[in-house]
Amino acid sequence: MADWTPASWRSKPLKQEVLYEDQDGLQNAIQRLRKLPPLVTPHEIANLKQCLKRVAAGEAFVLQGGDCAELFDYCNQDMIEAKIKLMLQMSLILIWGANKPVIRVARIAGQFAKPRSSAVETVNGVTMPSFRGDNVNGFEATPGSRKPDPSRLVDAYFHSAATLNYIRAALSSGIADLHSPLDWGLGHVKTPAIKEKYEKITSSVTDSLRFMRTAGLDTARGIETADIYTSHEGLILEYEETLTRPSKGHVGSAAATQPAAQKDKEFYYDLSGHFLWIGDRTRQLDGGHVEFFRGISNPIGIKVGPTMQPDELVALLDVVNPDKELGKVTLISRYGGSKIADHLPAHIKAVQASGHTPIWQCDPMHGNTRSTPSGIKTRNFTDILSELRQALEIHRAHDSYLGGMHLELTGEAVTECVGGAGGLTEDGLSERYTTFCDPRLNEKQALELAFLVAGFYRDHATQAKVDDTAV
Ligand code: PEP
Ligand code: CO
Repeated sequence: MADWTPASWRSKPLKQEVLYEDQDGLQNAIQRLRKLPPLVTPHEIANLKQCLKRVAAGEAFVLQGGDCAELFDYCNQDMIEAKIKLMLQMSLILIWGANKPVIRVARIAGQFAKPRSSAVETVNGVTMPSFRGDNVNGFEATPGSRKPDPSRLVDAYFHSAATLNYIRAALSSGIADLHSPLDWGLGHVKTPAIKEKYEKITSSVTDSLRFMRTAGLDTARGIETADIYTSHEGLILEYEETLTRPSKGHVGSAAATQPAAQKDKEFYYDLSGHFLWIGDRTRQLDGGHVEFFRGISNPIGIKVGPTMQPDELVALLDVVNPDKELGKVTLISRYGGSKIADHLPAHIKAVQASGHTPIWQCDPMHGNTRSTPSGIKTRNFTDILSELRQALEIHRAHDSYLGGMHLELTGEAVTECVGGAGGLTEDGLSERYTTFCDPRLNEKQALELAFLVAGFYRDHATQAKVDDTAV
């Protein structure tokens, strides 16, 4: 790759930069991280890329989800298990609905850093740096705690490692084993008709699993375990650089068919996680983040908001994926339910005309954040669902494929987003509002969203059949 090194981002302008006063501490953290083993391997990343190639070709779907801001405190057995189980259940419903394999990518084991719209905030008359995530500074609202502390970068590594270790251990010990009955927890659904609909879906999923068992088709590793890949926003490039390591030749199934010259070529992988994305605030063509991302061989995401110009989007694709490799780039659109119809069609058309075939994923969260009259940040379930439904319809109408959804969710019973079958209102938000950044769907709202999206796919399949018969 011409003129690229893991450090070449340093010569470019940087948005959302963290200004460390303690430069010696920063150098110590960097030296320490450089020596530590990678958190994931190029082989695992290559496996994910293979899966994503199928998504780009319209043959599979991606479910990406997790916290907005992961905290070091979330690194505990219960919270990790709750998140894995939720992702697994949602993926089962989506497999049933879309009739396609679902690739699970969690925002976990590294999703610590946050971009902020303002670098500072004033609390009780004291102005201090904003909370930038557990790997940068402390949440506690004092100037001391908000000072960027480089030793947190090393702490982030160890919390990511411990989280990932438990995910791997839990998966290999059968947490995803579909032989054990699943608790679908539909008690909260108040409307009988909706409850009945969801129960029909879960019993259909359960019946299929039972059938596989009876027929002896469940002996393969597939039903006892599942792959869950990790992802985070690649924001703190000092950290990402230390875990970006060379690997000879492309790994995985592509290796056998590679020309000899390619086999000796060095490819760089950011081994802090499987999938990384560039945020909507750091995607400038001439900026440090795009420079860093253009050189890594991981599959990457780019957030696409309402301010993205269609030609800028194509220019970005040309920079990060000049060879138009399938499965390499996921465009994560996040316009908002009231804006998607104004922006997505032009973005799809520009990308189609460019000859790129990225994965399109809908993030129905970040364009739908609003504040209640009393100043609590929330999102409405109806707006989230509306953006998802419109994304699906717009892609269909433009001969494009919606390959995934990207959600902020938690396995806990929090009260952060309003709406859904549990009927959470603004008055109920303060009950268990525990996010340190954006409002997340709770376990029940997340499952419900999966039911509804699965329904969109099913309805479409039925409609397509009716249309076929009409012809
Ligand atoms: C996020 O995904 O938490 C985020 C900050 O998103 P965006 O860059 O789209 O605003
Ligand atoms: Co967020």
